[in-house]
Amino acid sequence: MVQLTLPKNSRITTGKTWPKPEGATNLRTFRIYRWSQEEGGNPRLDTYFVDMDTCGPMVLDALIKIKNEIDPTLTFRRSCREGICGSCAMNIGGINTLACIYGMDEVKGDVTIYPLPHMPVVRDLIPDLTHFYAQHASVMPWLETKTNRPKEEWRQSIEDRRKLDGLYECVMCASCSTACPSYWWNGDKYLGPAALLHAYRWIIDSRDEATGERLDDLEDPFKLYRCHAIMNCAKTCPKGLNPAKAISEIKHLLVERAV
Ligand code: SF4
Ligand code: FES
Repeated sequence: MVQLTLPKNSRITTGKTWPKPEGATNLRTFRIYRWSQEEGGNPRLDTYFVDMDTCGPMVLDALIKIKNEIDPTLTFRRSCREGICGSCAMNIGGINTLACIYGMDEVKGDVTIYPLPHMPVVRDLIPDLTHFYAQHASVMPWLETKTNRPKEEWRQSIEDRRKLDGLYECVMCASCSTACPSYWWNGDKYLGPAALLHAYRWIIDSRDEATGERLDDLEDPFKLYRCHAIMNCAKTCPKGLNPAKAISEIKHLLVERAV
């Protein structure tokens, strides 16, 4: 069951069933969450039938086909369609992932699609990520330096650059944070897996000169220590990253500097 932040005093109802495309013999059923501020009322699950013989293989292909050919009011975010922009994150068949790189063949039976869990919804499959982005900005996701700027560039050894592998690939899709029970219950104060992965990415960057300040800022009962290593973040990340490991590395660094 997807944990959703529903509009106050509401429940999910069965919505409209749209007509099947004429003459299609290879149909797939999609049940998609619908709600908008303008319409208000209860959110609903609308049912659509997609002709798989004329549809691409990814869940995003089906959503675009539904929007273009069946229901232009269906609303979702997407841009790059190759897992790079992070904008098409949603909950598909119970898994937070990127619709553009998630194959329809990975879902058994009807394809049920909800917005990312436990986030306020702007409309249909679009969560409000304002707070999530503010938390990302709070970890100063940029190079902080004190020494004079070098003439050409901030240099880094190949070995030090390799330490950023498994971190820099994050596309800020929010799949991990919105899969984390600690983030569901304490997301106002706990930074969550995505922001903490970025925090660690800059803490271990050999060129950065604000490591102490970065660690000071995270030494907080809520910002960092609400992570209980539940591991949903690593399980769900569509880029195969492991935010829980990054969080545990930050905790180790804090212990090391205390002894
Ligand atoms: S760590 Fe993975 S799931 Fe989390 S925001 Fe980055 S890409 Fe998305
Ligand atoms: S559309 Fe860019 S990650 Fe899916």
